[in-house]
Formats: sequence, structure tokens, C-alpha cells
Amino acid sequence: MKKFVYADNAATTPLSDTAFEAMKPWLTEFYGNPSSLYRMGRAAKEALNDARTAVGKALGAAEPVNERNDFAPGEIIFTGGGSQADNLAIRGFVHGPTAKGRRHIITSKIEHHAVLYTCEALEKEGFTVTYLDVDSYGRVDLEQLKNALSEDTALVSIMAANNEIGTIQPIAEIAALAHAVGAKFHTDAVQAVGHMPINVQEMGIDMLSLSAHKFRGPRGVGVLYVKKGIALEPLVYGGGQEKGLVSGTENTAGCIGLAAAITDAVEGMDEKMRYVRGLTDRLVEGVMKIPYTHYTGDPVNRLPGTASFVFEAVEGEGLILMLDNLGVCGSTGSACSTGSLDPSHVLMAIGLPHEIAHGSLRLTLGEQNTEEDVDYVIEAVTKVIATLRSMSPVWENGKPNLTAASELHSH
Ligand SMILES: Cc1ncc(COP(=O)(O)O)c(C=O)c1O
Repeated sequence: MKKFVYADNAATTPLSDTAFEAMKPWLTEFYGNPSSLYRMGRAAKEALNDARTAVGKALGAAEPVNERNDFAPGEIIFTGGGSQADNLAIRGFVHGPTAKGRRHIITSKIEHHAVLYTCEALEKEGFTVTYLDVDSYGRVDLEQLKNALSEDTALVSIMAANNEIGTIQPIAEIAALAHAVGAKFHTDAVQAVGHMPINVQEMGIDMLSLSAHKFRGPRGVGVLYVKKGIALEPLVYGGGQEKGLVSGTENTAGCIGLAAAITDAVEGMDEKMRYVRGLTDRLVEGVMKIPYTHYTGDPVNRLPGTASFVFEAVEGEGLILMLDNLGVCGSTGSACSTGSLDPSHVLMAIGLPHEIAHGSLRLTLGEQNTEEDVDYVIEAVTKVIATLRSMSPVWENGKPNLTAASELHSH
């Protein structure tokens, strides 16, 4: 019988009941503008501040500065999602006073486009950007980082975990290297928050981006954590909300939903993630039984729910559409799906041959998935790959010439 299995939790996650219930009153009864002076407005402002406190706690940020639980000015800035947080962090920092006129930025080749395109735009303004290479597991080259750092480096921005292959970076080590030359450290932790332990103080993080919909909060709301003492140039000018950095009437319900979701995600995370990792291991084991299949990403230091593969002689878009017909939602970094000629920049950066990168599949599980789901996905993927290969001229003509598995990582 056809099932429905959502295995694309890195794209977005279903809103949790806790987040939905927390949001409801702020969507219905309490619609006051948080900037209004009367009681309903003040209640919204207070609820927003409580939400800031909850986010600060979940990230291990500094303690609230007063008995009202207000954070130090600017520490938790609500944004319209992860992309806005990344833009505010990078653009806002290098244009702001804390950068002290330094003009160099270091990032990696496998960042999300919210980071990469921001850096490219800054290059057009005359900033210099170093894009660090990664190894075949997707790990940033720390030697190259050390060599690239200089007295002109304003900011190092490296993601905590990659959205396509799940590889986790040594964030604390990178932050320490950045600080050694007086640079600040930003991390795009959009895929990491709620899925792995993050503590901004212990890890030496100066700025951190997160997005609610990756940990069962609502879409369209995120946070930039900014360490006390760092001054940014605003992202949006206007009424002065969010310490003047992101003007616009606050998305009260969204911010409250974010806070409820992050609190939920962080509570009992170890146990939940052990469960999710178990499911992912089962999935990887099953899918790797398909011939000419390669695992992509770091098999050890990876997000618990991420499993990514490439299948030789398969085209990713066909794979996704046929899986959809069997009720399975997954995603691909194939060229067709992204509308460009090249497969995803991440798969290129880890050194996959072009033609193999076209057959990529990312399956990302969450705590709502079950072993039954996983077994169904394995069955569906196995079936679809066999069907696609039976129709593929590459498979028919080239089977003996397909890339030797030893040239790639096969786990
Ligand atoms: C690593 C990473 N950064 C940034 C973003 C952008 O987040 P949002 O869609 O909330 O703007 C995403 C979303 O996929 C992501 O995975």
C-alpha cells in the first residue's frame, strides 16, 4: 500500500503542536502592535522579550541583564528567516563600526547562497573574499584558513552544518583562529540549531543565524544572535524595531512560535537525536545496498537526520518525481532541479565528477519519522533507481565503465 513519508526535513519541517498552540492567541485575540503604548501592545512587547529570553537560553547566550529578562541590547534580533539573518550578519558587520575598516572576509565554498551571494555582492563593493576549499567529506581546510587570515580580516563566516550533505564543521576551532587575528566569527547555524548542541559562549561565536522552520517552528521567522558589543549597520531602515537593525512591525506570533519550538527542540535533544541517528543509519545501510551508490558527506561528523547519496547513471530530477509518485518527499542537488547547468556547488566542491553529481538524493529525517517509514523509503528508492536505470542509455551501454567505487567514498 502506498504510504506518505516526508523525508525532506532539511528543506523545512512540520510545525509542532507546541509551537502552534503558543502562536494561536497572538494570531487571534492579542493582535496589538508591540510598539503601541496601551495594554495589548505592551503585552505583545513583553511576550516578544520573553521569546528573546527563551532563544538566548537555548543558545547559551549571556544571562538576561535585568529582572524583566531583557537581554543586553541587540543580543537576540528577530529577522524574517535564515537568509535575512545571514545578510544582516555579514553585510551589517563589514559595513558597521566594529569591523574597524577591515575589508577582508573569509567563508567556504559550500555555504548557503544567502552567505555566498552576500559575499559576492560585497566583492563588487571592493571587499576581498576568500572562499575556502573543503575536502571530499565537506570539511573546511583549516590550514588554508590559517594562511588566509590577516590583520585585514574583518569576519570569518562558516556554517555550523551543511544543508546538502550534513557535514559538521569544527566551529569552536575556527572561531579561535579568527579571534587570534582580531576578526569576528559568524556561523550560519540554520541546519544545526535544534539538531546538535550549540552554545554561543562556549564555542566563541560572535554572531549566529537560525531559522524557525528548520526545527518545527513557523516559516518566515529567524534570529540573528549578536554578541554584546558588536555594532551592525541596519538591514532594513524604518520604524526602528529590533534595535533599529530590522525595522518593520514584529511578527509577534512567529517569534513566539520560534521560541516555543527552539525550547522544545533543545529539551531532551540528546535522546531525540539518538533516535533520529538510529533511523538515518538504518536508511543509509539500506540505500547503500543499491549497486553503484555512493554516500556523500562526512559519515561521522554529520547531522543526525541527514543522509545524502549519489547514484550513478541516474538523473536527480526524475528520481525525485518518481519518489513523489510513491509518496516519498526528498530532494536533489541535480542541475535540472536548481535550474542551472552545473549540479549543486556543494557536490562540486567535494570533488564529485559532474555526471555523477547529477544523480544526487538527499533524504533528511526528523523525530516524527518511524522505522516503518525508513523501510518504505528504502524499498521505494531501490525500486525507482532500478526503473530509471532500466531506461538509461548510460546504464545500458556503460555499465562496465562506470566509475570505480574506490575513486569515491563508499561507506
Ligand atoms: C544552511 C542554510 N542557511 C540559510 C538558509 C535560509 O533560511 P531561510 O529559508 O529561513 O531564509 C537555509 C535554508 O534552507 C539553510 O539550509
